[in-house]
Amino acid sequence: MSQNKTDGEVIFVGAGPGDPELITIKGSRALERADRVIYAGSLVNPELLKLCRPGTPCHDSASLTLEEVLALMLDGTKRGETIVRLHTGDPSMYGAVKEQFDYLEEQAIPYSVIPGVSSVFAAAAAVKREFTLPDISQTLILTRLAGRTPVPEREALAQLARHQTSMAIFLSVQDMGAVVEALLEGGYQASTPIAVVAKASWPDEEVLFGTLETIVAKVQAAGIRKQAQILVGDFLDPTGGYARSKLYDPTFTHEYRQGTDR
Ligand SMILES: C[S@@+](CC[C@H](N)C(=O)[O-])C[C@H]1O[C@@H](n2cnc3c(N)ncnc32)[C@H](O)[C@@H]1O
Repeated sequence: MSQNKTDGEVIFVGAGPGDPELITIKGSRALERADRVIYAGSLVNPELLKLCRPGTPCHDSASLTLEEVLALMLDGTKRGETIVRLHTGDPSMYGAVKEQFDYLEEQAIPYSVIPGVSSVFAAAAAVKREFTLPDISQTLILTRLAGRTPVPEREALAQLARHQTSMAIFLSVQDMGAVVEALLEGGYQASTPIAVVAKASWPDEEVLFGTLETIVAKVQAAGIRKQAQILVGDFLDPTGGYARSKLYDPTFTHEYRQGTDR
């Protein structure tokens, strides 16, 4: 570890899925006091930059390499700056943050992370559904198809589909045919409900509902090729019914409430 002691710091902030009101209060306060911002311009809503003090330098990382981003962090923190690194949704999902954390640790530059609302939860809000319905599924798998970034074979979509859980699939709508093929191979029925939510929480948000049989044609017709969540599972349309929660059942006793006899 090198001895690069500095008064500056880097704050990783989850910008949320798009709607500028979906950043946390803590995240917006970090932007208000930032001396410099590095934001993922391909997905972060630029409206959020209006929270910064006038004249705050804001760098769009879309056209930068990792080395260029790290150089901005090193130079700025050496001068004592508070730098906000603004990532879309929540930084922990497909955020490419670990390589930045590792560098900051090597350089002994202090950093912290403020979580954000992931697009997976903005998509659930858009379709007004709950991923975890009793008797349907108590598990949510967050995954993606392999692209230029490989996915380990044991996590191939068809393997994960065997669990028949609720699923949210990032970064894959451009290959909708391959998504459906893998889900069918894994054992989902052709009638399984599926939704595609493009630009969740943005003014031009688009929601498509279908089944594994119908969704490819719908996505093609809508021309959706990026920035979409694919949600799969019976939680979307529990035709066989689901069990109501125990927590709010009048006969169920728990720490905060005495149940009654029916
Ligand atoms: C590089 S990943 C970043 C994910 C982000 N960290 C998060 O928590 O949402 C980009 C992918 O997230 C999804 N995504 C991001 N913003 C979205 C939005 N507003 N609506 C739907 N999907 C979105 C898409 O699948 C997109 O391909």
